[in-house]
Amino acid sequence: MSKIKVHDREFVKSISREEIATEVKRVAERINKDYAGKRPLLLGVLNGCFMFVSDLMKNLEIECEISFVKFSSYQGSETTGKVNQVIGLSESIEGRDVIILEDIVDTGLTMHKMLETLAESKPASLAVASLFLKPARLRVPIEVKYSAFEIADRFILGYGLDYDGLGRNLPDVYEVVEQ
Ligand code: IMP
Repeated sequence: MSKIKVHDREFVKSISREEIATEVKRVAERINKDYAGKRPLLLGVLNGCFMFVSDLMKNLEIECEISFVKFSSYQGSETTGKVNQVIGLSESIEGRDVIILEDIVDTGLTMHKMLETLAESKPASLAVASLFLKPARLRVPIEVKYSAFEIADRFILGYGLDYDGLGRNLPDVYEVVEQ
C-alpha cells in the first residue's frame, strides 16, 4: 500500500518500517555508548513518540528509566506557533541525565519550551533524541543530539505521527502529496 488517503489528503509511502528499524537501532547504539555506566531518564513526549520509544528502548542495553510528558502545539498539518503544557512531570529530574524522546522536531518551538521548562529542575544533563528533524523549518536554535532522519519540509504521518488524529497506527511513514 504505497498511496493512502487520510481525511482530505493523499499521502505516499516515503520511509519503510525496515529503514526506521535500522535508524532507530543506530540511535540506540549511540545512546548505549554515550551513556555507558549512567542511568538516564528517558522522557517521551506524547502522543507521537510511543512507537519510537518502544522500539528504541528494546535496543537499549544500559540501565534506563522511562517517563512521559505531554505538550500540545499542533492542529491539523500546520503549526499554530503556540505551545501549551498539558501534562507535567511527576518525578524529580534534579541531578539526572535526561534524554527527551520526541517524534519530530519541526519549528522547534515545542522542544524549546520543553528544554526551558526542564532546565529549571536542574538535571545533570539534558539531551534531545528525535526520530525526525526538519532542519529547514527550525525557528529557534535547538541542539538535537540524536536524530534518526533529517527530512524535507513536508508533512508526514505514520509510526506514531498523525494528521488530525489519524495515521498513528501505520508502521511505515507517508508524506503528503502536494495538490
Ligand atoms: P514544533 O513545535 O513545530 O517543532 O512541532 C512539534 C510537534 O508538531 C511534533 O511533536 C508533532 O506532534 C507535530 N508535527 C510537526 N511536524 C509534523 C508532521 O510532519 N507530521 C505530524 N506531526 C507533526
